[in-house]
Amino acid sequence: MTTRLTWYGHATLGLETDGYKLLIDPFFTGNPVASATADEVEPNYILVSHGHGDHVGDAVAIARRTGATAIANAEIASWLAGQGVEKTHAQHLGGGYQHPFGYLKLTLALHGSALPDGSNGGNPAGFLLTTNDGKKIYMAQDTGLFGDMSLIGDEGIDLAVLPIGDNFTMGPADALKAVKFLRPKTVIPMHYNTWDLIAQNPTSWADEVQSETNAKVVLLSAGESFEL
Ligand code: NI
Ligand code: MN
Repeated sequence: MTTRLTWYGHATLGLETDGYKLLIDPFFTGNPVASATADEVEPNYILVSHGHGDHVGDAVAIARRTGATAIANAEIASWLAGQGVEKTHAQHLGGGYQHPFGYLKLTLALHGSALPDGSNGGNPAGFLLTTNDGKKIYMAQDTGLFGDMSLIGDEGIDLAVLPIGDNFTMGPADALKAVKFLRPKTVIPMHYNTWDLIAQNPTSWADEVQSETNAKVVLLSAGESFEL
């Protein structure tokens, strides 16, 4: 069984696993680095980590067009339902559920979560997915560094996707510490170089991570994929 992760730019990820297509934080419209448009993706599931506009993005339009099931915390799931998203599945931090595509747990994230219209988006989340063949993928989405990443690391992470942009999330130095807590086999950086405010050099970060940890860093350009 192959699982393929695609980076669409910023924090927007695609995951194809066991025949299912997941789209995470689908920010295409207004995203200066997006490698696709909102009308050309065909997900079965849309995962929304928190309420900010660069993560909720095109979730409503894509879910309404495709009939995809939206998965988010309870506050965001009910907000999406109120926007006309027919199928939603609410979870909450620390809670996991066996979906057809794998076991998905919402993890802690150190961030905000207000929705674009000012509604309460609950608490922000990251995602820990155990695929149907047992691979563990941690998508931190927007977060600062927190020590309990070492508990997530205890799960045995095959792939971690981490923000390195700084300003809104972890920057390179804290993301290096996160790799030490998480101990992933492979790490992919994201949430950088979307705007000048979060400009970073991913190559020098990769060199540092690979000299100080056992993790392999994979640098994707927007639109590129990594196969587990
Ligand atoms: Ni955010
Ligand atoms: Mn963000």
